[in-house]
Amino acid sequence: MTFDRKIKIAPSILSADFANFGQECKAIEAQGADWVHIDVMDGHFVPNITFGPSTVKALKPHVKTVMDVHLMIAPVDPYIDAFAEAGADVITAHVEAGPHIHRTLQAIRSAGAKAGLALNPGTPVAAVEQLLDMVDLICVMGVNPGFGGQKFIHSQLDKIRALRSMIGDRPIHIELDGGCDPSTAPLIAQAGADVLVAGSAVFRGGSVSKPEVYGDNICAIREAAVGAMA
Ligand code: DX5
Ligand code: ZN
Repeated sequence: MTFDRKIKIAPSILSADFANFGQECKAIEAQGADWVHIDVMDGHFVPNITFGPSTVKALKPHVKTVMDVHLMIAPVDPYIDAFAEAGADVITAHVEAGPHIHRTLQAIRSAGAKAGLALNPGTPVAAVEQLLDMVDLICVMGVNPGFGGQKFIHSQLDKIRALRSMIGDRPIHIELDGGCDPSTAPLIAQAGADVLVAGSAVFRGGSVSKPEVYGDNICAIREAAVGAMA
């Protein structure tokens, strides 16, 4: 995984066909996805349940780009090794998931993955100040985590701008997760995010037998974001 600030589109398989994840991952990558975003939910930290490390492991052979695993679980630490062994390239934990996020980030890096830190919409940007040298990615939630297809919370744009200036030259990705579509992508990119997660806006209208719709949707988000930077 090399670092750059080019716009990357990371479709979230939360909006894919749950009976067909392997083919869905292949389809979005063939249609231009830069990363594959995998939402792990536990029904405790968030009010929804998805899947765990064995599903992530089963997906690994189907993902050739970057496996970006977003853990919406608490506690996190007992599961880090399992997700790293499953092949996660990035493991993102929430700052709100427990009292020892510093230890969690250390454990993610020691397990050999890139360390991501996610912030819920209600969490201030100051929460990351003491952690900047321990993270490879900061994920700003554009919605309250748990479900796809929610409306973007515009106040998160200020958080992205503040983070962008706090990060300076450090090689830290800013990811925006939730509510990203061709109408919000320009604002998100201008504010300073480089990884744009999109679930419903990528999978809407397509399927593994109509994958070109995924390609059109990915292109529309990318063009909107890149166009806004020109
Ligand atoms: C929300 C998840 C997101 C979600 C994004 O809890 O972390 O990744 O799938 O979905 P959209 O793009 O539909 O807002
Ligand atoms: Zn996510």
